[in-house]
Amino acid sequence: MSAIFVIVLAMLMLSKTNGQDLSNVKQLYTDVFANHQKEVLPKVNQSTPLQISVTIYLMTITEFDEVDETIVILGGMGCSWNDAGISWDPTSYGNKIYTILPSEKIWTPPITLINAVDVLGPVQGDTKTNAYIFYDGNVTWPLGGVMSAKCTTDISKFPYDSQTCKFQFLSWGLEERELVLNLASDPFSVQFFTPNSNWNFSSYDIRTFSWNGYSTLQFSITIKRASLYYSVMVVCPTILFGLLNPLVFLLPVESGERIGLAMTILLSYAIFLTLVSAAIPASSNPMCILLIVMIVTIVISGIIVVLAIYVSSLYYRDDKMKINAFWKFIGLRLPWSKTHNKIATETVSCEKPGIGCSGDVNVTWQDVSHGLDVLFLIVSYILICVLIGVYFIIVR
Ligand SMILES: *[C@@H]1O[C@H](CO)[C@@H](O)[C@H](O)[C@H]1NC(C)=O
Ligand SMILES: *[C@@H]1O[C@H](CO)[C@@H](O)[C@H](O)[C@H]1NC(C)=O
Ligand SMILES: *[C@@H]1O[C@H](CO)[C@@H](O)[C@H](O)[C@H]1NC(C)=O
Repeated sequence: MSAIFVIVLAMLMLSKTNGQDLSNVKQLYTDVFANHQKEVLPKVNQSTPLQISVTIYLMTITEFDEVDETIVILGGMGCSWNDAGISWDPTSYGNKIYTILPSEKIWTPPITLINAVDVLGPVQGDTKTNAYIFYDGNVTWPLGGVMSAKCTTDISKFPYDSQTCKFQFLSWGLEERELVLNLASDPFSVQFFTPNSNWNFSSYDIRTFSWNGYSTLQFSITIKRASLYYSVMVVCPTILFGLLNPLVFLLPVESGERIGLAMTILLSYAIFLTLVSAAIPASSNPMCILLIVMIVTIVISGIIVVLAIYVSSLYYRDDKMKINAFWKFIGLRLPWSKTHNKIATETVSCEKPGIGCSGDVNVTWQDVSHGLDVLFLIVSYILICVLIGVYFIIVR
C-alpha cells in the first residue's frame, strides 16, 4: 500500500514541476517550427559570423592503409550554436525549455572533411540525428560518420612506426565571415572509444585556424602500430639468419658440408624473403628500413657463399704452389693463426740474425685458409652486428 502511495506522490510531484505534456510540445512545434525557414543562415547580425562550438568524439580507428595512405575512423562531433530564428517563452508551453526535433527541421552547418578520400560533402552523409533546441535558440546537434582521410605516411620505421593523420573540417561553402568553428570547453572525448588491437591510439591534437578564408578545425591523431607480430615473424628470423650465416666459416673444410650449408642458408633466406615481403608495406617514399636490412643480409649471405667456395679452393691448393707474401701474412701473422705462436717462440730463440731465422716458417695452404676463415668469421659478424645495431638505433 505504502509503496503505491509513494509512487503516486512522486508522479504528482513530477507533473507539478514539469507541467508539460504532449499537447504543449505539439503546440510548440506548430507555433515555432511549422513555418520555420530552415534554409536561412540563422544570424542576428548578418555582418558577424555565426559561432559554432565543436567537440570531437573518437569512436574507432577502423583501418589504416600505408600503401594507399588512407586512414578510416568512425568519429562523431557535437556542435552547438545559437539559432537566432528560434525562440519561445517556456511559460506558455508548460515550462518546456527545450524540444527535440530531427535535425532536418532546422538549419545545420555543412561540416565537411576537406581531406576526405571518398566524397566532398557533409560528414554525416544521409544519417539523420536529433537536435536539442532550447527556448533561447541554442541548438546542440550530434553528427558523425565513417571518415576516410588522406594521410601522408612514413613507414621507414616499420614495424615500430607511429603515424600521425590529420582531419581537416570546415564548412564548405560558408567562409570565415559567415561561420566560425570554435573548440568547445572539452573539445575531445574518447568516452565511446573501442580500441583497435593493431593500432594503439597514442595522442591527439585539436586546433582551429583560418585557412584559405575558411575557419578550419584540424584534428590530428597519432597511432602506434602493435609490432609484436612483425617482430616475431620478420625481425627475429632476419636476425637469426644473420647470426647463423657466418658460422659457415667455423665448419671444417674437410667436412665437405660448408658450401652446402652456405647455399642452404642463402636459399632459405630467399624463400623467407618472398614469403614475408607481402607483409611489408610496398612503399618507396620513404622505403622501409627493415626491407633494406633484409636485402643487405641476403647480399652478405651471397658473399659468404662466394668466400666459402674460394677458401675451400685455397685449402685444396697444391703445396708446391708458391705462397706469396700476402698469403703468408694471412697464414702466419694474424693473431689467431696456427703458426703464430710458433713464430713467436722462434723469434725469441733467434736473438742473433743468421741462417734460418728470417721467419721462413713452413706455411701451408691449410694455414692460409684457416687464417682466412677466422678473418671472414670476425668480419661478417662485425658487419651483421653493425647492421642490426644501426637498424635498432634508427627505429627506436
Ligand atoms: C553588427 O555587427 C557589427 C560589427 O560587430 C556592428 O558594427 C553592427 O553595429 C552590428 N549591427 C547590429 C544591427 O547589431
Ligand atoms: C545558450 O548559449 C549561451 C552562450 O553559450 C549561454 O550563455 C546560455 O546559457 C545558453 N542557454 C541555455 C538555455 O542553455
Ligand atoms: C597499447 O595500449 C595498451 C593499453 O593502453 C598498452 O597496454 C599496450 O602496451 C600498448 N601497446 C603499444 C605497442 O604501445
